[in-house]
Amino acid sequence: MSDFKPTVQLTQDQIDFYHREGYLVLDSITTLDEIAWMRDVYDRIFEQKAGREEGNQFDLAGTDEEGKREALPQILAPSKYAPELKEGLYRVNTAHIAKQLLGSLATVGGDHAIFKPAGYGAATPWHQDEAYWNPMMTYNSFSLWLPLQEATLENGCLWFVPRSHNWEVQPHHCINNDPRIHGLEIDAIDASMAVACPIPAGGCTIHHNRTAHYAGANTSTTPRRALIVGCGMPATHRETPRAFYWNERKETPREARAKVAEAKAQA
Ligand code: NI
Repeated sequence: MSDFKPTVQLTQDQIDFYHREGYLVLDSITTLDEIAWMRDVYDRIFEQKAGREEGNQFDLAGTDEEGKREALPQILAPSKYAPELKEGLYRVNTAHIAKQLLGSLATVGGDHAIFKPAGYGAATPWHQDEAYWNPMMTYNSFSLWLPLQEATLENGCLWFVPRSHNWEVQPHHCINNDPRIHGLEIDAIDASMAVACPIPAGGCTIHHNRTAHYAGANTSTTPRRALIVGCGMPATHRETPRAFYWNERKETPREARAKVAEAKAQA
């Protein structure tokens, strides 16, 4: 465990805003020194394509063939490949924020990393995070999105539809309707009320598991790195069943690699 003490205390206005609007913007949850350190760690694991064999490194927005230029490289569980990522001040503040927003039983869960290459990193289409998850469970959670440089309109900051966390999970489909692509896109959305959330380095955005969100392509000359940390109350089993058929249709190379790695581990 790290020795850091939380340095962020949310105001009641911020807590109320999150519950009313389904998202929150914080200008600073860690230091610029820590962000610079994290950027080095992050670049190292993307350079290594850490987790590729296990299906944890893949192209979120492309067909993910070996050797093909990736539209939107992603790593699931980056802190598995760089455990030092669990030691930062941002992590201590994230855990503290989770308890303030969700309750004392809220904990930090999984993390993932989305890298938007300079000049060609693809847009992340509109989606609700819960659409990726287990349809048999009920969630009360959020994703904390921490860019490792400033996030701007040009490099792909997040956009939210305010109050969309009150929606049910909407129908989604694989990007381009291609079952080889992991990334999901909501079938239909009115994004006319969407709010763009540019933030300085060290800041973050927070969104509920049902809040509709989007990030533009990276048209800037520098990479856009983002680390996403999930936090939640313990998930519970649903009374009423539902099916996320868009996930059942997927046939991604990522999943194929994960199955091979699992079989190897059991052999
Ligand atoms: Ni998302």
